[in-house]
Amino acid sequence: MSLKCAVELGIPDVIHNYGQPMPLSKLIASLPIHPSKTSSIQRLMRILIHSGFFATKNVSNDANEVEYVLTDSSMLLLKDNPLSVTPFLLAMLDPILTKPWHKLSTWFQSKNPTPFETEHGEMFWGYACHVPKLNEFFNDAMASDARLVSKLLLDYKYKGVFEGLESLIDVGGGTGTLAKAIAKSLPQLECTVFDLPHVVAGLEGSENLKYIAGNMFEVIPPSDAILLKWILHDWNDEECLIILKNCKEAIMSKGNGGKVIIIDMVIMEEDKKKGDDESVETQLFFDMLMMVLVTGKERNEKEWAKLIFSAGFSNYKITPIFGLRSLIEIYP
Ligand SMILES: C[S@@+](CC[C@H](N)C(=O)[O-])C[C@H]1O[C@@H](n2cnc3c(N)ncnc32)[C@H](O)[C@@H]1O
Repeated sequence: MSLKCAVELGIPDVIHNYGQPMPLSKLIASLPIHPSKTSSIQRLMRILIHSGFFATKNVSNDANEVEYVLTDSSMLLLKDNPLSVTPFLLAMLDPILTKPWHKLSTWFQSKNPTPFETEHGEMFWGYACHVPKLNEFFNDAMASDARLVSKLLLDYKYKGVFEGLESLIDVGGGTGTLAKAIAKSLPQLECTVFDLPHVVAGLEGSENLKYIAGNMFEVIPPSDAILLKWILHDWNDEECLIILKNCKEAIMSKGNGGKVIIIDMVIMEEDKKKGDDESVETQLFFDMLMMVLVTGKERNEKEWAKLIFSAGFSNYKITPIFGLRSLIEIYP
């Protein structure tokens, strides 16, 4: 909430635009705050320095005044940074998504399917369908994450994952940020974004990109490969089996062998060599987030393997693409 407040007040951009370490007095003078609150800015900054979002750097040698700079983390919150994750931050801290956390213990004591449902009386995806504000900020949040992941996937050594494919469907691909980047980077690949009707309504494709409205629990159109980014962690094992079996049918009916490309977390808690404490903690927080919002969960490698083999796939390959998340390729 302190970080949310800093972003809402525009603190990262104000410090960035100052162009050099920014004295506290200048920061206060640049912020849209009431004069009675000026003394509280130093306290807000202090916690955010402690948690690594800002740092101090005294260049003016005025021992009386602290001067602030950005860190790598707050660079990712700047308005003009094409890789800004501010939409993700603000979505996760919106009351629609934070209120259900207060219902966690009530949920444990009830038969309700999710704390989200306990709070809002309806499951997440159904609620997003008729509450435009949630649909909008959630899709924006996913798009900001997808921009970051596209950059990693396509600018670095992972582009080879799409080699030899003629068609790809991004199932649950949201408003198409990742598929658009893939289609642009690989013009010979036919890309399709497949998502619920309220998500893809009115979106226009391009030469090698199209949008299809549908339900992945019913049928997924034939394709060489299926992409599932941040999909399976939204669902429990029974639901994932239905999705994965539909994926298998889609790639088998194309006749090229094919594969499913999953981008999701592989929990590292049992392998202390792989996961530093903060990364493991973040993965476990995501697991709790899945418990609160949807019926899903984060999985360790053993749980992934069980799911993949139960859905009738014969093999898998995990490549940790960056810190928290992995690329999991699965083969029929
Ligand atoms: C966590 S978001 C991930 C979005 C995107 N793949 C990304 O990572 O940026 C899950 C997506 O699944 C979609 N979804 C939920 N239920 C679905 C269904 N039954 N059929 C197709 N898509 C669905 C949602 O609308 C949403 O866009």
